[in-house]
Amino acid sequence: MRPANLACIALLLMVAACDAEEPAALRVAGGDARRGQAVILAAGCGACHVIPGVRGAVAWVGPPLTEWARRGYVGGRLPNAPENLVAWLLDPAAISPGTAMPSAGLTQAQARDAAAYLYTLGAARLPPVPAGMPLVPGEGGPRPEPRMRPRA
Ligand code: HEC
Repeated sequence: MRPANLACIALLLMVAACDAEEPAALRVAGGDARRGQAVILAAGCGACHVIPGVRGAVAWVGPPLTEWARRGYVGGRLPNAPENLVAWLLDPAAISPGTAMPSAGLTQAQARDAAAYLYTLGAARLPPVPAGMPLVPGEGGPRPEPRMRPRA
């Protein structure tokens, strides 16, 4: 076999392996989960939500965002899908007039990053919580590596 063919096969295998890591339906175009975790911390989302992996995010003002990837609807209005979540994070009231969730004033890029992080929570092949980032106290309790929430 020619080297070019081998390289082609290797590339295809790598692409297939990437696909296996997160379901396509949960991928946020242009979103970066690691940056999103920082965005969520800085935006103070934890003042109202329980968000695993985000320091101090243990509040119950709004619904807990645990296992977000498994949630059916965003704000009870739109099917839970990447573009809908991004739209919600940018302007909740535009989707659900009168909602108690305020706009955090995120940029489009910040909203995409935050959404990418939320989809790491409860995804089918659940990625571990990044090393050095414990589950929030009182939310899931300390767990051995890899830190994954038990499934029912
Ligand atoms: C002042 C409190 C508050 C802050 C701050 C806040 N939220 Fe919310 N959030 C809420 C409330 C209340 C709801 C429920 C709204 C509804 O269903 O109409 C909600 C709903 C949501 C939902 C949909 C939940 C579901 O089950 O449908 C997501 C996702 C979300 N918030 C993410 C965030 C993110 C990310 C941030 C930070 C950028 C944030 N929230 C900041 C109060 C807040």
